[in-house]
Amino acid sequence: MQSKRYVVTGGNAGIGYEIVRGLAQKSAEVVLVSRDEARGRTAQAELQAATGAGKIDLVVGDLGTVAGTRQLATDLLAAYPTLDGLINNAGVWMTRKVLNEDGLELSFMVNHLAPFMLSQLLLPALQAAGHARIVHVNAGLYVKGKVDLQKTPYGKDFGRIRTYANSKLCAVLTLPEQARRLAGNSVTVNMVHPGVIRTGLGDTSGVVGWLLRQVKRQWATPLQGAVAPIWLATAPELAEQCGIYFNEQVPMPLADNAQDEALAAALWQLSERLMQ
Ligand SMILES: NC(=O)c1ccc[n+]([C@@H]2O[C@H](COP(=O)([O-])OP(=O)(O)OC[C@H]3O[C@@H](n4cnc5c(N)ncnc54)[C@H](OP(=O)(O)O)[C@@H]3O)[C@@H](O)[C@H]2O)c1
Repeated sequence: MQSKRYVVTGGNAGIGYEIVRGLAQKSAEVVLVSRDEARGRTAQAELQAATGAGKIDLVVGDLGTVAGTRQLATDLLAAYPTLDGLINNAGVWMTRKVLNEDGLELSFMVNHLAPFMLSQLLLPALQAAGHARIVHVNAGLYVKGKVDLQKTPYGKDFGRIRTYANSKLCAVLTLPEQARRLAGNSVTVNMVHPGVIRTGLGDTSGVVGWLLRQVKRQWATPLQGAVAPIWLATAPELAEQCGIYFNEQVPMPLADNAQDEALAAALWQLSERLMQ
């Protein structure tokens, strides 16, 4: 896999950290994207020393705003003319409503709009590779989502669980159209629920936080969470698979709430407008 080059967002922690490790172990060149330079440098140094194989680059980029996501795409395109894979892994589970400088609720931005943007903006480099793959790390909880385009993007229906599910549902709603548009472009796109994994996602303080940390002890490790995303990015038998949602390594039909074509079309239009 010497010649393969992958971008992994949120590569400094959790599942993303293990995705970077796994790809580097396959002798790939991995571009680790971190929003924080110091955390990114630490992860890069640890992983490079631990794998001894591949090559791990660090690119700093914040997916929390439209401008930050655009800047990241510009930096990636300038540094890497070809990309064999984009693993949209970065994600947030917001426990309180935060609006970014664009007036967008942060989980809508990070979990839906940023991967939506990167997938489009990095297309020239993905196409140049000739056989590239986009892998979106989603969450099975999307089935609980209910998206209202007047409210969800702006946090007007914010809820501690609902908002995470809604933001992941937004991403799933756009999967079929992404796949349709990529047909014939030598780039595939698929989505994956990585399992229920013990990471810092959604951590909070107080009693609720303490209880959550106890429950998480039973959950699978980030190493296990990286298995399916790495498989989707690299397995030769998946080269032609496109537009499929995987529960770990099992293909699944989209839930009813992700099959609303009118909502999906309206969300696509809105997302294109918001990313300008
Ligand atoms: N853990 C689970 O059980 C589970 C289940 C289903 C799906 N997932 C999905 O798996 C993915 C990885 O989650 P995880 O569990 O590994 O969580 P995590 O340990 O909290 O890691 C999330 C990563 O995303 C990065 N990130 C957050 N906001 C960002 C921003 N504005 N710009 C750039 N990077 C940002 C984080 O950076 P910082 O370190 O700087 O915060 C971190 O590197 C997410 O998409 C999540 O929704 C996880």
